[in-house]
Amino acid sequence: MYEQIFGKYTPEKENLIYILHEIQDSDPQHYISEETVHLVADYLNIQPAHIFGVLTFYTMFSTKPRGKNIIRLCESPPCFHRGSEKMLLKLAEMLKVKIGETTADGLFTLELCACLGVCGNAPVMMINDDVYGNLTEEKLESIINSYKGGK
Ligand code: FES
Repeated sequence: MYEQIFGKYTPEKENLIYILHEIQDSDPQHYISEETVHLVADYLNIQPAHIFGVLTFYTMFSTKPRGKNIIRLCESPPCFHRGSEKMLLKLAEMLKVKIGETTADGLFTLELCACLGVCGNAPVMMINDDVYGNLTEEKLESIINSYKGGK
């Protein structure tokens, strides 16, 4: 099932993070299942427990199915001081989800993250690989609507 991804990396422990990233990115639900953990463990000849440890340590990995679009709102101090909490409330209200949840239509998962390295544009969020800064409630609405329209 993941032969193509495994084929790109030699079976060494150092490649674990790269392999997990590629698998998660290629999964339509953006997560790493328990079955996948065992396949990767077999390929790299390491204990599944080691992989579960990595998956829980790094917040960018998920062991639960997620939505088509992953929203990561920065909660670090510069963004917090410039209104990220208000943005979080707005997102939660618009999407009718709490942090870590996926919308009923499977379109969005709402997550928090640490500094995205663009604090000058605080408050900031990412949706998948795209970064959005200087957020306002109005801007949030138009961004979310553009994804609902099939962006
Ligand atoms: S603190 Fe939010 S991008 Fe740096």
